[in-house]
Amino acid sequence: MLPDLQADIERNLRDYAPCTGLRRIMLCLTLNSIHAVTLIRLQQWCASHGLPTIILAKLLFWFFKIEISATATIGPGLRLPHPMGIIIAPNATVGPDCDLYADVRLVLAHGNPQGPTLESGVFMGDGAKAVGAVTIGANSVIGVSSVVTKNIPANSTAVGIPAKVIANDITRT
Ligand SMILES: CC(C)(COP(=O)(O)OP(=O)(O)OC[C@H]1O[C@@H](n2cnc3c(N)ncnc32)[C@H](O)[C@@H]1OP(=O)(O)O)[C@@H](O)C(=O)NCCC(=O)NCCS
Repeated sequence: MLPDLQADIERNLRDYAPCTGLRRIMLCLTLNSIHAVTLIRLQQWCASHGLPTIILAKLLFWFFKIEISATATIGPGLRLPHPMGIIIAPNATVGPDCDLYADVRLVLAHGNPQGPTLESGVFMGDGAKAVGAVTIGANSVIGVSSVVTKNIPANSTAVGIPAKVIANDITRT
């Protein structure tokens, strides 16, 4: 848990560089994104060790309106710049170094227990959604309020409902 949380904190602080000493401590104490990822990591750790997660799940919901299934897989370096309204369904996978903005939803399709998969470095813009057992390829960008219903290749930008690829050779830092 701690290496993953460390990676999360580093990515959530990256917009505030240089970020050392007292400034770093103050940011860790005050940034919503860091509070949210810390609760998420604790919840996932408890779930993976067979411990009750109800208090952590309630704290995530009360403070952030975030609901993340205990059976979702969350890679290190999770960045939540505006942590609110995020829902991650059972058996969804969020790869390393993904960015999830407010109101991102990774949800199940009816009749299929497999949730969406985000490969590494995926950027889900504000209100973006993925439905069912779709895979969003590494480093892809999903536009604001778009709804992904089919697989998206790596290094793509996809927008709209349903999301269509408008660029397929992007590079992200
Ligand atoms: C997806 C995104 C990265 C595309 O940016 P871009 O590569 O600069 O693309 P453009 O703005 O040139 O738009 C290209 C086309 O896609 C359309 N488009 C862009 N974003 C769209 C969206 N979210 N939904 C539907 N269509 C969209 C544009 O209207 C344009 O259409 P056109 O070619 O018919 O004129 C950007 O629109 C976006 O949604 N970024 C995420 C922003 C965000 O979530 N910020 C976090 C909150 S601070």
